[in-house]
Amino acid sequence: MTFRSLLVLGGSGFIGGHVIAKLAQTDWRVIVPTRHFEDAKHLLELTSVDDVIEADIHDDAVLDQLVRGQQAVINLVGILHSRPGSPYGPDFAKAHVELPRRVTAACAANGVPRYLHMSALGAARDAPSMYLRSKADGEIAAFSQPSVATTVFRPAVVFGEGDHFLNMFASLQRFLPVMLLAGAEAKFQPVYVEDVAQAFVDALLNERTIGKTCELAGPKVYTLRELVRLAGEYSGHRRPVIGLPEPLARFQAMVLEHMPGQPLITRDNLDSMKVDNVASGPIDPELWLDDLVALESVAPYYLTGRKPHTGVDVVHTRSGR
Ligand SMILES: NC(=O)c1ccc[n+]([C@@H]2O[C@H](COP(=O)([O-])OP(=O)(O)OC[C@H]3O[C@@H](n4cnc5c(N)ncnc54)[C@H](OP(=O)(O)O)[C@@H]3O)[C@@H](O)[C@H]2O)c1
Repeated sequence: MTFRSLLVLGGSGFIGGHVIAKLAQTDWRVIVPTRHFEDAKHLLELTSVDDVIEADIHDDAVLDQLVRGQQAVINLVGILHSRPGSPYGPDFAKAHVELPRRVTAACAANGVPRYLHMSALGAARDAPSMYLRSKADGEIAAFSQPSVATTVFRPAVVFGEGDHFLNMFASLQRFLPVMLLAGAEAKFQPVYVEDVAQAFVDALLNERTIGKTCELAGPKVYTLRELVRLAGEYSGHRRPVIGLPEPLARFQAMVLEHMPGQPLITRDNLDSMKVDNVASGPIDPELWLDDLVALESVAPYYLTGRKPHTGVDVVHTRSGR
């Protein structure tokens, strides 16, 4: 069998792991660059992975070498926090805007025909947060090379085994007696990670997605309060949830920003929640995602580390909403 070669930037992360695992059933074989080989070497166990390479993808010469000879590039690199700046801070600029500009330029220079780019639902140049503004400029960068066939994906918040979202709220409720929640009434339309991964894998060869910006959102809209309650219930530690008024929420975020390590929430994250994280319409039929997995059918299992009982299968919901 002849294999096609694919470079997956950000392949060591939550969504990357699911995308790469799904590629095992295809004829794509993957190279994954990472900043920390030790943290990503487990990917070598997947049959779709040819190599995991410690590399600085922000170095043009390194990027050029990685991209050369590939038949496609997927870019999943993303961060949630940055130093401040206008219209966004330097860390967002580097990871979300400069990187896709340099990746697509390297693709064009090396004749790589296909590029799939990960953005985020709500990306807009006039969005209320630095995160979403930088994602919007990243999309412009992603489409900047006419010779590279590009597709951009904008997922809502993503749930599934290993997620950062429901798992975090489940963990917090294990040791906190009460949840003081910022943005409690903000709306979200979570999408299952396997649906996101399938959209990426299918798009590699689906020419109808070229030039498109595709939203990916799940079958149901929830408030953040409802999602936190579900995370508590499914993990067996449901705590009272108290919504924080805006000034208190901002104060809480400011304190957390000054704690060591990655902050749980920042003021910029709060700004992101000023607009509902909800799709503008049904999923594009060209993505071939006829069914979308409901959060209620998988979260109770992965939040407790249980496997579904025999005969219990994930509930699929028609994507027409
Ligand atoms: N998870 C969600 O709910 C969600 C929702 C909407 C959009 N997205 C977008 O989807 C993408 C993947 O999300 P995820 O949840 O899988 O993220 P993740 O688990 O945090 O993984 C992020 C990946 O990006 C790489 N990375 C991070 N900062 C980097 C930097 N400065 N330079 C180079 N590589 C860097 C990491 O690679 P190494 O550490 O191995 O170098 C890692 O593989 C992101 O673009 C994110 O914005 C995610």
